[in-house]
Amino acid sequence: MTLRAHQTTGTGAHIGFRVKIGTISNTRLGLDQRPTGGLYKTEYTQLSDALCQARKIAAMIKTVSLSALAALAFGVMAPPAVAGDAAAGEGNWRSCRSCHAITDNAGTVIQRGGRTGPNLFGLPGRAVASFAGFNYSAPLVEYGATGAVWTEELFAEYVTDPTSFLRTHLDNTSVRSPMSFRMRSGAEDMWAYLESVSPAAE
Ligand code: HEC
Repeated sequence: MTLRAHQTTGTGAHIGFRVKIGTISNTRLGLDQRPTGGLYKTEYTQLSDALCQARKIAAMIKTVSLSALAALAFGVMAPPAVAGDAAAGEGNWRSCRSCHAITDNAGTVIQRGGRTGPNLFGLPGRAVASFAGFNYSAPLVEYGATGAVWTEELFAEYVTDPTSFLRTHLDNTSVRSPMSFRMRSGAEDMWAYLESVSPAAE
């Protein structure tokens, strides 16, 4: 189970969980903590996949104390998921190819692909929505303006469901991502592949 947490506003926190249980992978669950009149209101938002699994996780999360959640919200992370397999990621490039290419700074094509989405060269460690000349959507630009940088955690969350990623991070349920693709599995392998063809992140 991977666990990530971040603060969305000065007064609340959002904690997202991604889990793999048995044959059901990438069940995702968001947990929002918002102070309401001095008391914390806890909302469980089941974002995808099997509801019953999510309920089990919700029950498990209920046992985590609020102070532990607060600690998580301020940056204490669970150990990272098992490292991905770059070769498997490369094998999966076909799912990105229709919209993305990988072209290095000298113009050498590493992966041919479409131009609906930005060049993914150097993505690890790159600022969100920062590929020069690409016409990003307003919500991704807004999120990029927070100074966010692509990490494996953020990448996995994004490619699994770009629209819910934006909704969570911008705390706005009406935004929609123009990336109409959801990666159902293998995000960590794709990340490993992108790292393998990119200059080392500073
Ligand atoms: C149907 C087209 C489409 C497919 C398929 C697609 N993407 Fe995208 N992707 C986009 C678009 C369009 C954007 C720009 C989103 C925006 O402006 O909000 C984007 C943005 C991104 C970004 C943000 C980049 C940045 O510069 O901040 C990442 C990361 C990304 N895609 C990864 C992937 C990966 C990995 C795959 C394959 C598993 C993939 N995408 C498949 C269309 C696609």
